[in-house]
Amino acid sequence: GQQQAVLTIDAAAPKTTISRHIYGQFSEHLGHCIYDGYWVDEKMNVPKKDRIRLDVVAALKKIHIPNLRWPGGCFADEYHWRDGIGERSRRPKMINTHWGGVTEDNSFGTHEFLELCELLDAEPYIAGNMGSGTVEEMSRWVEYLNADGDSPMTRLRKANGRDQPWKVPFWGVGNESWGCGGNMTPEYYASEFRRYATFARNYPGAPLKKIASGANADDYNWTEVCMKNIPQHMMWGLSLHYYTVPTGNWGRKGSATSFNETEYFKTMQRCLHMEELVAKHSAIMDRYDPEKKVALVVDEWGIWTDPEPGTNPGFLYQQNSLRDALIAGTTLNIFNNHADRVRMANLAQTVNVLQALILTKGTEMLLTPTYYVFDLFKEHMDAKLLPIQLAAPGYNKDGATIPAVNASASVDSNGRVHITLVNLDADNAITVQTTLKGKPFKTVSGRILTSGKFTDINTFENKNLVKPVAFNGFKQTGAVLSVQLPRLSIVSLTLE
Ligand code: AHR
Repeated sequence: GQQQAVLTIDAAAPKTTISRHIYGQFSEHLGHCIYDGYWVDEKMNVPKKDRIRLDVVAALKKIHIPNLRWPGGCFADEYHWRDGIGERSRRPKMINTHWGGVTEDNSFGTHEFLELCELLDAEPYIAGNMGSGTVEEMSRWVEYLNADGDSPMTRLRKANGRDQPWKVPFWGVGNESWGCGGNMTPEYYASEFRRYATFARNYPGAPLKKIASGANADDYNWTEVCMKNIPQHMMWGLSLHYYTVPTGNWGRKGSATSFNETEYFKTMQRCLHMEELVAKHSAIMDRYDPEKKVALVVDEWGIWTDPEPGTNPGFLYQQNSLRDALIAGTTLNIFNNHADRVRMANLAQTVNVLQALILTKGTEMLLTPTYYVFDLFKEHMDAKLLPIQLAAPGYNKDGATIPAVNASASVDSNGRVHITLVNLDADNAITVQTTLKGKPFKTVSGRILTSGKFTDINTFENKNLVKPVAFNGFKQTGAVLSVQLPRLSIVSLTLE
């Protein structure tokens, strides 16, 4: 069938910047994300710096990942940073109680993480331990990282080979404090935040952007209490976690690779719930902070399916299909359109865990469909959001309807306009009649990510099944661009 959407983009007076930090990543000590993902055996025959895999680094640099959140997740609230510094063979080991009960040898610690960030040219976002750590422990970690001059922690850092402070900018105070981070009430968390944050000091030239552990999905009360009880000057951001679980049932989440259209449709419905979550949490924040000083930080998001059969269920290893790419495109469009409040987000979890950008197997690696979405969207980073109006046809299944098309647009510092479009409809191509108001354009170029089936994946046998190609399915007539969006596709366009 042939259906129509009408998109109007207002290029007259852009004001909101789309923070590049919306395109952030999250990597935890979980399964094979850090260990055997970034950090490999010294004997492994791949290009490495120390034990950091440089092919993984190069792929992430290509999409300009702006920041990396670490060491958790749930792991953050049982991580004791002093176990992860100094001579590696002498570092104490621990049990990773959340993720498979495996032994953590602490070979990847503070210095190794910050070395990784320097290689990636990404800003570090460290989640401090509030659940099982002390105020002193967190305070000392910040001193170790960010202080200059002479102090017990700067001496220790120098003895471990690092002279200059790293000036870590982003600082999480606990993680999921309503759950794995300590099962706190919001009132209790807000009080504890004030105490921990007080002693996580701003050292000269290294002001911390402190991020409070925020709500689980629709827990609006959590946001309300944090906004009411935490002074705004203490908190750069307040977080939100939301995962797309295909069946909606955490006990049986659904397969990453084998699902029918009904399940695909339900998954997209749940993915689109992010729009409502961001709007409603923002509305609460607006009441306390009408100037939007505090950022909403969606520091965990993505699809969470059952693990791949035959893998350790505690390692959360899942494949990544065209469906996941459609989720990533849709979610990033939502974040862009809410860039006035959403100023940071972190996909869970970059390598080998949940909705990964990269999968590795021994010395091999592959790029997932989700990776390519970040590639298609990267021009939005730090560009100015252009307000849009979109009338999209419905995609109907089993008596329910979702908007078939979603979009966002921006103008970069060179005056080029970038538009990203997603067609979720599994059956219909859609023509998007696009009008750019207030800015004439002469040339258009595009790229598209699509594939035959929503279950299509990249495997180690066939790494390039789902991969972007040049797109020329558009026709310009004056200020109107008619774009033919194939079913199940993600398209990026540049107009200049
Ligand atoms: O990303 C996996 C886990 O999901 C994180 O450790 C935790 O914060 C969340 O529950």
